[in-house]
Amino acid sequence: MKSDFTLSNGNRMPAVGLGTFRIKDNSIAAETVAAAIGAGYRHIDTAAIYENETGVGDGIRQSGINRSELFVTTKIWNEDLRSGQIKQAFEKSIERIGTEYVDLLLVHWPAGKYTEYWKQFEDLCKAGLAKNIGVSNFSIRMLEELLPVCEIKPAVNQVELHPYLTQKPLLKYCEEKEIAVTAWSGFMVGELLKNTRIIKISEKYGKTAAQVILRWNYQNGVINIPKSVHRERLAENISIFDFVMEPADMHSIDELNKNLRKGPDPENFDF
Ligand SMILES: NC(=O)c1ccc[n+]([C@@H]2O[C@H](COP(=O)([O-])OP(=O)(O)OC[C@H]3O[C@@H](n4cnc5c(N)ncnc54)[C@H](OP(=O)(O)O)[C@@H]3O)[C@@H](O)[C@H]2O)c1
Repeated sequence: MKSDFTLSNGNRMPAVGLGTFRIKDNSIAAETVAAAIGAGYRHIDTAAIYENETGVGDGIRQSGINRSELFVTTKIWNEDLRSGQIKQAFEKSIERIGTEYVDLLLVHWPAGKYTEYWKQFEDLCKAGLAKNIGVSNFSIRMLEELLPVCEIKPAVNQVELHPYLTQKPLLKYCEEKEIAVTAWSGFMVGELLKNTRIIKISEKYGKTAAQVILRWNYQNGVINIPKSVHRERLAENISIFDFVMEPADMHSIDELNKNLRKGPDPENFDF
């Protein structure tokens, strides 16, 4: 990958990865992952609940790139979190992917007693089976609860983040605690690509609206995982390292914030 971020534990994480939510068909997942790796991606984001871990693994093997060059994230789903069956769920995930380890294992949603089962994530990390461990959809309140019981603190918090939900307080908190932030639904599943202010800024730099949003995140130190099944978009979404947005444009995008969510609020989700 052209550009990586360094996590608090010194490990590297590519700043742009491929999101795979809603790619349910495993053969399409395999084709997409292989195409993405061919286009230069070295970071793939999947989850047990996406039902595509098998396809992701097939795509990795089809790509011909060494596993050691890739950064693969998966997530433990809520029912396994609630029942505390973390290790069992993890083993099923790595079997489906066909890998001996993952680069990042996440608590998918703050379900169940995370202060209790976090130890199982730490055990997987100590065993080298999850090179990094982290959380997803955690608010400041939840991190405040989790951090005091951590022997190994979360390296990453993956949250909904985009120009309509800039998450500035959470970003500041995570920066202070040295927790890297990954943005999910960075385009609001496409909706934000029609925003006139973003389109205007994109024209100024000769880039697309998608690239402007991805670059805005990158310049804010946020990891991107855009999802696309189209080759030209895969190439577009990773080509964000050849321009720099001016502070005024960064600020102008920040000002689009309206605390609007595409997904549920982690403080009251019901699944
Ligand atoms: N941790 C969590 O709870 C959580 C929740 C949601 C998502 N995620 C992760 O975050 C990833 C990204 O979020 P997301 O999939 O919800 O949405 P997204 O990345 O915001 O948007 C994906 C949508 O935008 C389109 N698109 C992508 N690149 C484009 C481009 N350059 N130009 C025009 N359209 C483009 C895609 O269409 P095509 O595919 O047709 O190109 C797709 O419809 C997920 O795939 C998943 O890995 C995590």
